[in-house]
Amino acid sequence: MERGFFVVVDGIDGCGKSTVIKGIKDFLISLGINRNKIFITKEPSNSIFGHKIKEILRKQKNEYQNKELITELYLKDRKEHVKKEILPALKDSKIVLCDRYIYSTIAYQSAQGMSMEELIKQNEEFTKPNVVIILDIDPKDAIKRINLDKNRDKKELFEKEEFLKKVRENFLKLKALMEDENIIIIDGSKPKEDVIKEVKNILEKSLLE
Ligand code: TYD
Repeated sequence: MERGFFVVVDGIDGCGKSTVIKGIKDFLISLGINRNKIFITKEPSNSIFGHKIKEILRKQKNEYQNKELITELYLKDRKEHVKKEILPALKDSKIVLCDRYIYSTIAYQSAQGMSMEELIKQNEEFTKPNVVIILDIDPKDAIKRINLDKNRDKKELFEKEEFLKKVRENFLKLKALMEDENIIIIDGSKPKEDVIKEVKNILEKSLLE
């Protein structure tokens, strides 16, 4: 049995996941939770499969190509990430904050043309989070944010408005398709402070349950 608490933040590129994760971390610290009890991580992870994925994301131009290989790599990366990082942290009673998880595979790889039903099945084996926050935003605004971000020099494979529209639609279907999961969809287009406040309220409730 894991004793920790597992939170996932997911959504399309440019939805504000990293800002929200930082906001959650600051909130947990303000509650008196020790920094070394908070483990922040992301997918694609640092495994060899994660590195292969990042190379494809930089080099490949067409977002519909290699969908089988890409799906396989995300699943293999997740297997390593869960086994070597997430589960040990949860066993150590840590709060795990994960940027992207199974929801990204289901939303992005079905936008690439894989079967959504099949992707849901392929992800059943993975530990379920206590809370899943999906930040919902119009891909137009997301692309604007990506373009404003000075730390990004080049656009990645999936950072295209038309493609992200499909991904967004898929994310919005997940709540109904995965009824046994604690998925909460938040309007990510609101000011940063409002989004973080909403997330804090959700976490406060679920941490006390
Ligand atoms: P990410 O590292 O979050 O992007 P960023 O460059 O903003 O840090 O994710 C890289 C890309 O991988 C992103 O476009 C989403 C995509 N992705 C999938 O298609 N499937 C998945 O299972 C995951 C985890 C990510």
